[in-house]
Amino acid sequence: MKESITSVLREQRVIEPPKDFSLSAHISSFEEYEKLCRAAQDDPEGYWSKIAAELDWFEPWQKVLEWNYPYAKWFLGGRLNASYNCLDRHLTGWRKNKAAIIWEGEPGESRTLTYQQLHREVCRFANGLKRLGVSSGDRVAIYMPMVPELVIAVLACARIGAVHTVIFGGFAAHAIRDRINDAKAKVVVTADGGYRRGQEIQLKPNVDEALTNCPSVQSVVVFRRTGNQFITMHHGRDCWWHDLLSETDANCPAESLDSEHPLFILYTSGTTGKPKGVLHTTGGYLVGTTITSKWVFDLKDTDTFWCTADIGWITGHSYVVYGPLSNAATVVMYEGAPNWPQPDRFWQIVDKYSVSILYTAPTAIRAFMKWGDEWPSRHSLSSLRLLGTVGEPINPEAWMWYYNVIGKQRCPIVDTWWQTETGAIMLSPLPGATPTVPGSATKPLPGIVPDIVDKQGNSLPDNTGGYLVIRKPWPSMLRTLYGDDERYERQYWNEIPGVYFTGDGARRDERGYYWIMGRVDDVINVAGHRLSTMEIESALVSHPAVAEAAVVDRPDSITGQAIVAFVTLAAGFQPSSELQQDLKDHVCKEIGALARPQEIRFTEALPKTRSGKIMRRLLRDVARGEESLGDTSTLEDISVLARLRDEQE
Ligand code: WTA
Repeated sequence: MKESITSVLREQRVIEPPKDFSLSAHISSFEEYEKLCRAAQDDPEGYWSKIAAELDWFEPWQKVLEWNYPYAKWFLGGRLNASYNCLDRHLTGWRKNKAAIIWEGEPGESRTLTYQQLHREVCRFANGLKRLGVSSGDRVAIYMPMVPELVIAVLACARIGAVHTVIFGGFAAHAIRDRINDAKAKVVVTADGGYRRGQEIQLKPNVDEALTNCPSVQSVVVFRRTGNQFITMHHGRDCWWHDLLSETDANCPAESLDSEHPLFILYTSGTTGKPKGVLHTTGGYLVGTTITSKWVFDLKDTDTFWCTADIGWITGHSYVVYGPLSNAATVVMYEGAPNWPQPDRFWQIVDKYSVSILYTAPTAIRAFMKWGDEWPSRHSLSSLRLLGTVGEPINPEAWMWYYNVIGKQRCPIVDTWWQTETGAIMLSPLPGATPTVPGSATKPLPGIVPDIVDKQGNSLPDNTGGYLVIRKPWPSMLRTLYGDDERYERQYWNEIPGVYFTGDGARRDERGYYWIMGRVDDVINVAGHRLSTMEIESALVSHPAVAEAAVVDRPDSITGQAIVAFVTLAAGFQPSSELQQDLKDHVCKEIGALARPQEIRFTEALPKTRSGKIMRRLLRDVARGEESLGDTSTLEDISVLARLRDEQE
């Protein structure tokens, strides 16, 4: 980590947008970008109004913003429908026969749905949901593999005003249960399974296990993906997707919904064990995702856009579903792993469908680097014109590799910083306008007002590390944490009074470019997936052998960060490699494989302050094999640290 930070500090390379790219870009010069920023600064409401007018509204709004700190309402009185904006409005002209989704399954089959076909399927499934008694405001949990039916289910909810909560297919029963219960979902939409790395992954059994204790759930809809014969259907609760749809018709007008009608809840990890239900509403979220898709990815009708994220994460919500479809883009969707059957699957897909814009995560890029240049070099990649990254800081080495080996020095790179909570991209170059510097997300988009501050909220000078905050409300901001306003206020607004606190550390350089350093709270970012140390710790202590656990991060050359867990054992248990394995498996079972610790270390005691708080900072140093230079004076028992180091040898 130290090494990569120093290299980021030394980074001087500036890469100008290619001239021919700028000529045809939506935002074609830095001056144009600055003009937009000034317009947004001088008259924020006028600026956002103009942008919101790009959507189709059933009723115009009366007021742009009501800001009752820290609660925002945008486009008050306006009425619209997100599914209408992603589908119906594209059906009047030639776009009705344009590909909306080009899907490829991991085993290799492919399906294309035009806008008209997608519209039809969404309407049918929306009617199916109605048949199950789902109405406006009801919550629907969706736990599916990356198949078009996942998009169909999402848009069907939006069409009738039901609130979707998509649960990533990698989560295990316990995590599913927590989310369903918090959202009090009435219906669960799932599949028999999916494919990943040549294996059939089980989904329905996880739902069955979760639902042993989910009183709100009345029905489960099961899409048949794999044809798994061993699925059990619970009579009276479960029905097959195809049976539900067999009698539904394709006529389902989109409901006219208030701009502030809840669109979805997406759970994300916070600083406590309990996941946070980030709530987004219709108008503002769609405005944010639509305009950022258009400007950051310079989306045109001729593009084929591939965002490789799973729809279980915010990136998939905003840049597989809502943003691109609202722009009538052609979206590529892929079910499986990047290295199945071989490490060139992504490049094969790029060539096969002539992908022009590729949006992926630094973890994937670092893995491709490791697998070797021979894999991308087997493919032409000449259709690509723009590359994007998201989810974690990208080290300049990986940035340059992406630029040289994938983009052939032809494609600009947009390093986009944002969060589940921000709904849409906040900091990013505009590819035809902003000179890029490897490792920096460059500047805020017009209308976004970030700052770097100290704990008291004072702005810090250039090149000083501090907390990344956002000073003014923006349309796609989260509205609250579902059912927990108090936690919303505490988590985002109270720590540094008056501003939205992102949880990230960053600095701004002399040209106004932002450099994200990573989380400053107890959130770990493994392979671009957000996990809370507390969530993993509580999974560990639920194992009978564990007395206490402390989880810290350690830099990893592929996943950015890796999980190291320090564990003290309950009486009667002895350290062993079997137990290490068992504890790792236990975390997978409780949360999902994404939370699997890279290392479990047994220790006799954990370093604590006199008030009993575990000193994770010291453990982090131990996990990295570094000397602790920080203050150890609050340590209750200094010998614990020495012992931890001895145990390491
Ligand atoms: C991190 C993902 C550096 C950051 C969209 C943030 C990034 C967290 C970047 C949000 C980036 C995201 N550079 N760090 N370009 N993008 N992050 O909610 O720590 O899954 O707070 O949203 O990812 O993760 P989330």
